Amino acid sequence: MQQTSPYAICAEQVYKQYKNGVQALSGLSLTVKRGEIFTLLGQNGAGKSTLIRILTTFLKPGSGKVSVLGLDLNRDADRIRAKIACVSQQTSIDMHLSLRENMMFQSRLYRIPKAAAKKRMDMLIDAFDLTQYLKYPVSSYSGGVKRRLDIALNLMSEPEILFLDEPTVGMDIQSRMAMWKMMEKIREEFGTTVFLTTHYLEEADSLSDTVCIMKEGKEVAQGTPFALRQYIRQDMIRITFSSKSAAGDSVKRMSGLFLPDRIRIQDNCCLLFTEDIRRDMETANVFLLKNQIPFLGIEIKQPSLDDIFLKLTEDSKQEACI
Ligand SMILES: Nc1ncnc2c1ncn2[C@@H]1O[C@H](COP(=O)(O)OP(=O)(O)OP(=O)(O)O)[C@@H](O)[C@H]1O
Ligand SMILES: [Mg+2]
Repeated sequence: MQQTSPYAICAEQVYKQYKNGVQALSGLSLTVKRGEIFTLLGQNGAGKSTLIRILTTFLKPGSGKVSVLGLDLNRDADRIRAKIACVSQQTSIDMHLSLRENMMFQSRLYRIPKAAAKKRMDMLIDAFDLTQYLKYPVSSYSGGVKRRLDIALNLMSEPEILFLDEPTVGMDIQSRMAMWKMMEKIREEFGTTVFLTTHYLEEADSLSDTVCIMKEGKEVAQGTPFALRQYIRQDMIRITFSSKSAAGDSVKRMSGLFLPDRIRIQDNCCLLFTEDIRRDMETANVFLLKNQIPFLGIEIKQPSLDDIFLKLTEDSKQEACI
């Protein structure tokens, strides 16, 4: 019965403390549905890589309940390992082997029969546009192509879940877009569940079925990008000033009008989170004009995933699960 669970991953109240005393995970819970692209978003040190290391069985959790593909992480680590693949920041490519040799070597690690491995290799080379690179040595590939090859290598074993720790970090926009297409293909054509971490919010927004925002070892919100936007249902008023310091000065002067957790400075703008847009728009307008505070514009804005991420990760009191 457990095997037919609709969830690829269920983690409940996971804690992890490293030997040096750092508490990397502090009661994290999340669920990942089978076949979806799930993105973990979090600032440096939030615990993303620690969680991936736990989910991929390289690290044991201190406490908590984790099941992967319906299997218990503590009891069935070997069976889980056979069904998943993980692409970390260090590529697993052997620079002395050719592209094809790398792929066949990978298939031997998983004991895939040679004929089946060849078929799978050709399909992956074609699916991820690697044919044009076959004639060149692997060491000459660009970072983006190496990463694509690394992912293809990891798909040789037909994993049910593919974990990717910051797959697009440091890539230019073309390589990142190629990577996004690749991930969509992995979900659409192979039905693989994709679990990835990223710092890029627009990537999470456009690519993911579900986003989980993490802070200090714990989830602060989980849901579709759309649902996360609904979480901050209030509109925002954005007042643009000529500089960041002008925005800062004005926020100080307006601090008596709005609650401190409703105001934020972003570049040269002041953002006001509001539940009563007409009232607050009028209040801000009257205040700015009456006090002759120069500003370049004032407008109503829908929050982006960026705004939500910043708000949730800045405000330690905010907690939500959608
Ligand atoms: N092997 C380790 N031993 C001790 N502390 C560690 C170890 N690995 C990570 N940490 C600490 O645990 C916390 C979480 O780290 P982790 O690498 O999981 O975060 P992250 O969200 O992946 O960060 P980043 O975005 O920088 O990759 C950090 O404070 C980090 O310094
Ligand atoms: Mg990390």
